[in-house]
Amino acid sequence: MKYQSIIEQMTVFEKAQMMTGKSTWETKDFEKYNIPSIFLSDGPHGIRKQLGSADHLGLNESIPSTCFPTAATIANSWDLTLAEEIGEALGQEAKELGVNVILGPGMNIKRNPLCGRNFEYFSEDPLLTGKLAAQYVKGIQKKGIAATPKHFAVNSQELRRMSNDSIVDERTLREIYLSAFEYVVKEAQPQFMMTSYNQLNGEYTNEHHHLLQDILYGEWQYDGVIVTDWGGSNDHVKGVIEGSHLEMPGTGVPSALELVAAIEKGELSESLLDQRVDELLDIVMTLTKTEVENRTSLKASTATKHHQLAYRAAQESIVLLKNEAVLPLKSTTKVGFIGDFVKVPRYQGAGSSVVNPTQLDTIEKVKQEYGFEDAPYCQGYHRSGVSEELLINQAINLAKTVDVPLIFMGLTEINESEGMDRTHLSLSEDQLLLVEAVAKVNPKTVVVLSGGSAVEMPFANKVAAIVHQYLGGQAGARAVLDVLTGKINPSGKLAETYPLSLADVASSNYYPGLEKTSEYREGLFVGYRYFNTVEKEILYPFGFGLSYTQFEYSQLAIKDNQLSFVLTNIGETDGAEVAQVYLEHESTQRIYVKQQLIGFEKVFLKAGESQTVTIELPTRAFEYFNTASEQWEVDGGQYSIGVGAHSRAISLKVSVEKNATTEVVELPLAQVPHYFAGKVSQISAKEFETLLGRPIPESSWDKTLPLQENDTISQLYYAKGWVGRGIYHVLNYFLERSIKKGQPNLNLYFNYNMTFRAISKMTGGMINKEMVNHILTIVNGQFFRGLGRLIKAAFHNHQTNKKVS
Ligand code: BGC
Repeated sequence: MKYQSIIEQMTVFEKAQMMTGKSTWETKDFEKYNIPSIFLSDGPHGIRKQLGSADHLGLNESIPSTCFPTAATIANSWDLTLAEEIGEALGQEAKELGVNVILGPGMNIKRNPLCGRNFEYFSEDPLLTGKLAAQYVKGIQKKGIAATPKHFAVNSQELRRMSNDSIVDERTLREIYLSAFEYVVKEAQPQFMMTSYNQLNGEYTNEHHHLLQDILYGEWQYDGVIVTDWGGSNDHVKGVIEGSHLEMPGTGVPSALELVAAIEKGELSESLLDQRVDELLDIVMTLTKTEVENRTSLKASTATKHHQLAYRAAQESIVLLKNEAVLPLKSTTKVGFIGDFVKVPRYQGAGSSVVNPTQLDTIEKVKQEYGFEDAPYCQGYHRSGVSEELLINQAINLAKTVDVPLIFMGLTEINESEGMDRTHLSLSEDQLLLVEAVAKVNPKTVVVLSGGSAVEMPFANKVAAIVHQYLGGQAGARAVLDVLTGKINPSGKLAETYPLSLADVASSNYYPGLEKTSEYREGLFVGYRYFNTVEKEILYPFGFGLSYTQFEYSQLAIKDNQLSFVLTNIGETDGAEVAQVYLEHESTQRIYVKQQLIGFEKVFLKAGESQTVTIELPTRAFEYFNTASEQWEVDGGQYSIGVGAHSRAISLKVSVEKNATTEVVELPLAQVPHYFAGKVSQISAKEFETLLGRPIPESSWDKTLPLQENDTISQLYYAKGWVGRGIYHVLNYFLERSIKKGQPNLNLYFNYNMTFRAISKMTGGMINKEMVNHILTIVNGQFFRGLGRLIKAAFHNHQTNKKVS
């Protein structure tokens, strides 16, 4: 142990205190041992350091910092250098503001477009996610600040996120949901890792032996520490045993006492606790060597420089989805601006990742720089979704008087946020009516979309052009006008597939898990892996994005694991292409997806210029996870490697022959025929059980049972006691009211999806586990009995807190 001399002096209680935060954002310090505290802050696309009232939901103000485009946006840039630059900038801002640990990047796989936090995640593809996230981590950590990839793992829904159990088979787990984390750990060695709220195959991830001990520490040789998500700790003792270090936010005395009691009972060995303290101390001591300032605002030079970087990042990430000879706009074109987003942009999502930007560009503010000062404007729609005919009529009138109406629209605040999932892929009705009406009177209509996840576009055939800016951060407005006017050539490509409708998504029958579990029945068939295997009609393919120039691919060759080809800009405009490499393979031996991304490179070429591009294929490129040999293996046979502009535009192919590394057949076709055929909607329970290798756990709540500590507050609707049901109705009333107002109330959503157990984890020790049990007695119908015991336990807890702290 590196810090044995300190640890030997510490009492068991003090060591236990190190395993839980001091406050919402800080770790415990001990002056007498020279152990400093470190400061943790969100987040993934900007620093959210709070000086005043602390909260983990983005409700209270934080110090202004640069709001970069969110991960879903940057993913469209496919630019690894850019991702590292953003990481460095985040690290720099953390340093200036006195933050030692950044709680990001968020890197869960976009399993289904409905997930409320998709805007915080990169992609449906693990390679793209893992590579980009690794660059963020490298950039952040270059500055001596720790990064925290999150949420480890299989956290794909917000509904009851603290109790839901993700049921996934081992191969899918490895190839889809863990693969990106594997890249990050191996390529960037993050110092922190945040476990997710959910359970995975029956165990909370923060105390999951297989996930943490076998895979993360064992196979991947992870060398950093683990922090729980805020309030996400279930069994702290078990967490520490399995390799989790820090319970956040500060859970106070009761939590430390749990560890002490476990040592006394022999459930946890003191030497293991010492080891965890040593591991955490190592990181704390390393991080505190970085000289951080404690500024209350960024240096002016940093703010200016990073606003420029946020601008470049937004430029690189905009995706041109459709263009019927209307863009770029000519200087003589008369345009009109329509949409509430022109004045109040949607540039980030809601929740813990919310950044208070140093400045905010809007289309309205910057449009005169592009010669649009006299262009007419109308609001077009209310962002609350309430429809008003007058607004549409104004837009129709405007559209009749200009050459090109530009409609700025997309997902509004109520559509996507941490804490809630969407229920459909549609944009609000009034926006759809608006675009329909405007396009009818002016076929040159251009739609500029905002939002962090796929939407349906019933207007796609009716408008002349569609530009998707995703959530472009504080400097996104100029970037959009640059693309519209041709000041820059768009080079973003979609990091997710756009289906025609929700029903086409492979997980649509199983998403979200409504009660206890969420069955990942679709297995490997996530995103384009599914759509392209079964050749389903879609709106826009994975990797798709147009440019104002054209590129040509030639001379594809492969030598060992190195692929090379020549890329030429054959158009008349300079521009960048994201060249993508896909592996194509069919198997008679095992379930397969037809196509997988195995490499990519973003290349800038002047008009007429050519370049030889070389891409090193990753070691995992040809491998799959064999559940019988419990290893990564290679399937024998012919593989085709294709390169092209997107997953459905492969220009050139080469063939490669591989020998099988094992002959073990895990699942004969006859047992899982629908998996072999990619018929995801027909997968029976029996087939899924075969894939899982065990019975499917019961998913429905047993409403005859009393509520337990890992049930959620939302389940109070069937509580046995009137108090419980009353609380539910009050909560529900306010939730519905907030939805009607068009602003999600995150506090209410958090409480709604929170487990009873989490009450003891979110109150800094004021409410302990015993008190939670008495609260349960009350809501389960024994009001007076529970109340009496609750008062007694509260008094006792208060006394203990006073005595030991
Ligand atoms: C979120 C995390 C975040 C944490 C602290 C949680 O609710 O899930 O992503 O880092 O809060 O704000």
